[in-house]
Amino acid sequence: MEERKGFGTNFGFLMAAVGSAVGLGNIWGFPNKMGASGGFTFLVIYLVLAALCGFIVMLGELALGRKTGKGAVGAYKVLSKKFKWLGWLGILSAFLILGFYCALGGYCIKYMVLNVGNVFGAGFGNNGLASGDVFGNLLTNQLESVIYGLIFVLLTMIIVMGGIGGGIEKFCSIGMPCLFFMLVIIIIRACTLPDAVNGLKYMFVPGWAVENGVIDKAPNLLTVLSTAGGQMFFSLSLGMGAMVTYGSYLEKKQNLEKNALIIVICDTIIALMAGLAVMPARFALDPNGPIGGPKLLFITMQNVFNSMGTVGYIFGIIFYLLVVLAAISSSISLLEVIVAHFCDKAREKGKGDKRKVYSIIAAVGSGLLCVLVCLDGLGSNGIAPFDILGIEANGWSDCWLDFFDCISEGVLMPLGALLMCICIGWEIGPKVVDEECCLEGNSFKSKGLFNICVKVITPLIMVFILLGQVDGFFGLGLFQ
Ligand code: TRP
Repeated sequence: MEERKGFGTNFGFLMAAVGSAVGLGNIWGFPNKMGASGGFTFLVIYLVLAALCGFIVMLGELALGRKTGKGAVGAYKVLSKKFKWLGWLGILSAFLILGFYCALGGYCIKYMVLNVGNVFGAGFGNNGLASGDVFGNLLTNQLESVIYGLIFVLLTMIIVMGGIGGGIEKFCSIGMPCLFFMLVIIIIRACTLPDAVNGLKYMFVPGWAVENGVIDKAPNLLTVLSTAGGQMFFSLSLGMGAMVTYGSYLEKKQNLEKNALIIVICDTIIALMAGLAVMPARFALDPNGPIGGPKLLFITMQNVFNSMGTVGYIFGIIFYLLVVLAAISSSISLLEVIVAHFCDKAREKGKGDKRKVYSIIAAVGSGLLCVLVCLDGLGSNGIAPFDILGIEANGWSDCWLDFFDCISEGVLMPLGALLMCICIGWEIGPKVVDEECCLEGNSFKSKGLFNICVKVITPLIMVFILLGQVDGFFGLGLFQ
C-alpha cells in the first residue's frame, strides 16, 4: 500500500491547525460578540469554556485521528461500531461550511482587488460610490460574485491537491506568519487613530456598550454563556472532523497535549488581536457603521480605509489579503476533511491515493454550493430559502449563507462534538487518549482533568451549547 504522507514538522502541523482555527469567525465574530456581551467578563467566560470544552474536544479529536491514522469517517469506523457513522456528519458539515466560506472568501479577494484599483485610480476601484453601495452592487452582480467565489474555490483546490506536506503545510508555514505580521501592522495603525480608545473600551470594559448606546440592553448571563460557547466552538474548528483529519497526519513522537493547548491559545490571541485591529478603527472612523458580520468586514472596514486617503487603500490591500489568508487556511482544512476520506479508501484498495482526482471532485461539489450562495447575494436576489418557500424571512431562511450556517454551525457541529465526547468518555473509554498522548516518552499532565471533562463536564457544556446554538439560529427564545 502506498505510504500516507503527513506533516514534515511539528511547526508545519501547528501552522496548519492554527490556520484552520483562525478564520472569518475570529475577525468578525469574536470582537463584536465580546463587545456586545460584556467585554472582559465575556473573555473570562470564553477562556473557561475554551479550557473545559475547547481544549478537551481538540485533544480528543487529535488523538482519535492520530491513533487511527485515518480521516474522520475512517477513524470512527475503526474505533466504534455504534459511532461508525459519526464521521459522515463531519463530511456533510464540511460541504455546507465550504459553500458559504468560499463565497465570503471570494468577496475578500474582490475587496483586495478593489483597493488595488483605488490606489491606482483604476475603474475597478470604488468609483466614488459609498461603501454600502459598493457592497450592494457586488451582492446583486451575480456573475462577478460567482467568478470571485470560484477563484477562491480554485485556490483552495490547488493547495489541497499539493497534499499535506507539499500543499497545506507549505502554504500555512508561510501564510500564517505573514498573516500575523500584517495583523500587527493594522493594529498599530488602528490603535494610533484619534478616538481609537473607544474601540478598546467597547471590547474590554463591561457595560460600556450599553452605556454608550452601541447596544440597547446587556444580554443575560445564559445568553452570554451560550454566545461564548458557540463562538469558541466554531472558532476552534471543532466537531466536524477537521482536527481528527489533521491529527491523523501527525507523527507519533509529537506531543499531542502541548499541541492542542498551543492551538487553543493561538486562536484566542489572534481573535483578540483581530479585535484590536478592527474595533478601534471602526470607532475612530466609522462610529455608526455595522459592527459585526459581513457588513463589518465589507462596509465598515472599507469606509475606514476610504476615509484615510491613498494610504488607507494600501492598508485596505494588506487587511483584505490578511483576511483572504485566514479564510484560505481554513477552507483547505475543510476540503481536506472530504478529500482525506476518499484518498484513504482508494489507498486501502491499493489504487494509490488519487488525491488530485478527489480534490477536483470535492471542489466541484463545494463549488456548486458556493455558486448558490453567490447567486443569492445574502438574500438580495429573490432566490433565498424564504422566497422559495414563500414564508416570512427569519434567521435561517433569510439567505442561503445563513441556511447552511444554521445547519452546520447551529446543529451538526455541536452535535458532532457532543457525540465525540460520549464516544470517547463512555463507549471506547478515555484510555485511548491517554495511551496516544503518552507515546514515545511523552507524558499526559492533564489526564485527570481530561477524564472528568470528557465524561461529564464537556458533554454537559456541549448540550448547553447545542441548545444555545439552535435557540440563536432558529430564534426559539429559550434563553431570554
Ligand atoms: N474556525 C473557522 C473560523 O473561525 C471556521 C471553521 C469552523 C472551520 N469549522 C471549521 C474552519 C472547520 C475549518 C475547518 O472562521
